[in-house]
Amino acid sequence: MKKHNFSAGPSILAPEVLEKASQAVLNFEGKGLSLIEISHRSPEFVTVINEARALVLELLDLKDKGYAALFLQGGASMEFIRVAFNLLNTNGKAGYVNTGTWANNAQNEAAFLGEVAEIASSKDKNYSYIPKNISIPSDLDYLHLTSNNTIYGTQFQSFPVTDVPLVCDMSSDIFSRVLDFSQFDLIYAGAQKNIGASGTSLVVVKEEVLGKIDRAIPNIMNYQKHIERESMYHTPAVFAVYTCYLTLKWLKDLGGIPAIERRNIAKANLLYSEIDRNSLFEGTVQTEDRSLMNAVFVLNDKHLETAFDEFWQAENISGLKGHRTVGGYRASIYNAMPMESVQHLVTVMQHFEAKFG
Ligand SMILES: Cc1ncc(COP(=O)(O)O)c(C=O)c1O
Repeated sequence: MKKHNFSAGPSILAPEVLEKASQAVLNFEGKGLSLIEISHRSPEFVTVINEARALVLELLDLKDKGYAALFLQGGASMEFIRVAFNLLNTNGKAGYVNTGTWANNAQNEAAFLGEVAEIASSKDKNYSYIPKNISIPSDLDYLHLTSNNTIYGTQFQSFPVTDVPLVCDMSSDIFSRVLDFSQFDLIYAGAQKNIGASGTSLVVVKEEVLGKIDRAIPNIMNYQKHIERESMYHTPAVFAVYTCYLTLKWLKDLGGIPAIERRNIAKANLLYSEIDRNSLFEGTVQTEDRSLMNAVFVLNDKHLETAFDEFWQAENISGLKGHRTVGGYRASIYNAMPMESVQHLVTVMQHFEAKFG
């Protein structure tokens, strides 16, 4: 029996995506060849990557609005530095909002190439909230935000309004809620949470923000090169991109982002209500900044941790441990997580309370 998988990433994918991807590895579209042994330039794969790129723009409502979608390699971590290569001028300055480990890593990587300013931070309270009313200097080359903080379970509910180009790491909440995505000039996300298998990252960039700096950019780091080559500058992560394609089709068939948002809100409400009601647990995040994707909570009595760990593991649950830097528990309830699994976790928490409360 398949486990209820609350892993933060790589994480749960829709059953039909796993099914079709496995089939394609054995025999891709009945061609008698595996998806991962054909040329990435074969018409079959070119169709896959092009359709995936088109679906990204369609689902984000960015079609015909001057954006390009790319599937690149190196994970979101590569984009930390690639963003700076493309947008941070040699004598320029970039602004970063420090909402946790990944936001901080993004800032530190960009600092290899130029000046970065931390314009707001929630480090003072162990990243348990999202800084509000951020004052944004007008001389920034770009402002970088992390929409959802996977480790701490905080999420921006609205974004600063500014003339400065807005760059957003959406690794753990892309395609999960309705937003005006055109407020961002560049969005990137590692695939392995809401899009597909690890090995590729999605970059969505407004083309007019590129080509404006005087820095020499190595080809592999240059978004314009990747756009010119239609995301085929070098061999793409064929299998990972295929899983993204399948997931994007799955999402479209489901009704797109509005439909998945309704499901995500219902799942998060169910889980947070239990965290708040259950006398043994408490949430760690300021209520209005709680993430729809990663619910972080702790036991009031740490002595119960071993008992709780044994309890949920015996109930066919996987991946509930909090990040090693935070401890406690984190239930990642990404797009593909069914309501039934969240209900199961809630029931397990209730049974645990009945036994140990
Ligand atoms: C918000 C966020 N940004 C960046 C990363 C790093 O992604 P990658 O491992 O693809 O480099 C992660 C990984 O969990 C993340 O959650």
